[in-house]
Order: sequence, then C-alpha cells, then structure tokens
Amino acid sequence: MRRVVFNQKGGVGKSTITCNLAAVGAAKGLRTLVVDLDSQANSTRYLLGAQAVQADPPLAGVAEFFDQSLKFTVKELGMEAFVVPSPFANLDVMPASSRLDELHSKLESRYKIYKLRKALEALGDTYDRIWIDTPPALNFYTRSALIAADGCLIPFDCDDFSRQALYGLLDEVKDLREDHNPDLAVQGIVVNQFQPRAKLPAELVQQLTDEGLPVLQPYLVSSVKVRESHQQAKPMIHLDPKHKLSEAFQALFNSLPGEAEPTPARRKAASKKRWD
Ligand SMILES: Nc1ncnc2c1ncn2[C@@H]1O[C@H](COP(=O)(O)OP(=O)(O)OP(=O)(O)O)[C@@H](O)[C@H]1O
Ligand SMILES: [Mg+2]
Repeated sequence: MRRVVFNQKGGVGKSTITCNLAAVGAAKGLRTLVVDLDSQANSTRYLLGAQAVQADPPLAGVAEFFDQSLKFTVKELGMEAFVVPSPFANLDVMPASSRLDELHSKLESRYKIYKLRKALEALGDTYDRIWIDTPPALNFYTRSALIAADGCLIPFDCDDFSRQALYGLLDEVKDLREDHNPDLAVQGIVVNQFQPRAKLPAELVQQLTDEGLPVLQPYLVSSVKVRESHQQAKPMIHLDPKHKLSEAFQALFNSLPGEAEPTPARRKAASKKRWD
C-alpha cells in the first residue's frame, strides 16, 4: 500500500500527518517507509533529526535516486542505497534535500515521471506501507508521487479558501487517475487544526460532507505539542502516547481503508493462539 499526502496549499499539515500516521503503522509492526519529496526536508528532519539534514557528506536520498535515473550507469544502485533507518522500529526514511530543486527541470524535461512508481513497486516486498510526503506545489515531484501511489490523503485546514481550492485539487487527482494511474483512490480528507468550539470550521467540514466528499474521522485538533514533537524529532505517539492527538492519529490510522485488518504482529499473535 502506497499513500501520498497531497495538498498544493502550504502549511496544512502534510508533513505532520505523513510522519505521524507512518509512525503509528510502524509501531503496530508494519514495515514502513516515508519518502520525502519536498526540498524543505521537513519530514526528513522530523523523523531523523536536524543533524540528518545537515550531514556532511549529505545522506543519499530521493535526489540521488532521481539523479541516478538521469545518468547512464552500468551498475545502478538498488533502492536500499537511498534509504536511512530512523530511530523508531520498522520506520525508514528516503530523505529529501535541497538538491531536489536543482534536479527539477532536468527531470521534467527528460520525462522521468514514472521512475518513482517503478522504484517503489520494487520495494513492495521490503515494506508493508509506503508514505509519500509532497511539496506545496503541483510539480514534477507531486505528479510522480500521485502516479506512484494507490491512495491519496488530502489534509484540510478548515479555511474557506482551502475549501474552494479543494475542488480544483480533486480535479487534478481525477485527471492524473484517468491519464496515468487508474489505481489512485482518494482515501479521504484529513481535517487538521480543527477548533471544536468555533462555528465556522464545523460548518466548512459539514459542507464537505454534504457534498459527498470522504471526510475522515476523527478530526485532528490544534495543539502546541505538535511543535514540540517536530522540535524533538519524535512523532506524537513516541513523544506522548496518551496525548489526545496521539490517540487521534491512532484512530485516524485505523479508519483508513485497508487498515482495519490485523497487522503482522496481531496476525502472528492470533495464529499462535490457534495452535496453542
Ligand atoms: N494539529 C496541529 N496542531 C498544531 N500545529 C500544527 C498541527 N498540524 C500542523 N501544525 C503546524 O503547522 C505547521 C505546518 O505543518 P506541516 O509542516 O505539517 O504542513 P505542510 O503542509 O507539510 O507544510 P508545507 O506545505 O510547507 O510542506 C507546522 O509548524 C506544524 O507544527
Ligand atoms: Mg511539508
């Protein structure tokens, strides 16, 4: 299962949601990879720490993978060469770096849009879940991610402009599905920074639901803990497992299509019981 978290609008919670849902799945025993396609490298920093982004020499990651696709090499490096383990069990990262910006126009002009899909397909035996974080733009990297994924989550920040932009965004996904990736399903809209006591956010979310859009439950509230979680490079379930947002991320993960089934750990325990 490969999921992309996508919204062209900046600061709506893409990186926060990607990393926290990936961390929840990994903690359940699912072998998980986070692919960071944003040159800001926020997910990389969140899961590997600030030192990973400043490493000298830089960590090999997504940019080096794409760079390899531009060159003719007799012996191509396997995808494992571009993956870094995180401090959390079952959770690896394909790091981003500012080199992604330098490569962008070359990749676009050489039409390397299917490279990521092929590469991530080859990792299907290594990982149970792959999460892709995207930049706040509809560029080569975002399109590559939408072509590489089979599920798409769209964070929504309870703003009226965002609600209007959502329709254009869903059209983009539809076009991409028709032209390039029939497997791509919009798995849901993730409501972020929800203010339960304010009237407008509830109305905006209700409008989305009334229009038949797949709004996922529960909504994620705003909390200062998120900043702390980024700063300490620890996803919420590791920073404070009993926090209401940690519980919300777990409930949200369980509500995703395909996640209600037993995880490998639970399956193992269940089959053990049967034979005991
Ligand atoms: N539920 C939340 N509560 C409080 N702060 C949050 C929450 N979700 C996100 N934030 C904060 O909002 C900011 C933007 O979040 P994030 O970086 O995840 O968004 P993004 O969509 O990935 O941004 P960009 O488009 O720049 O990549 C961050 O400072 C983050 O700490
Ligand atoms: Mg981001």
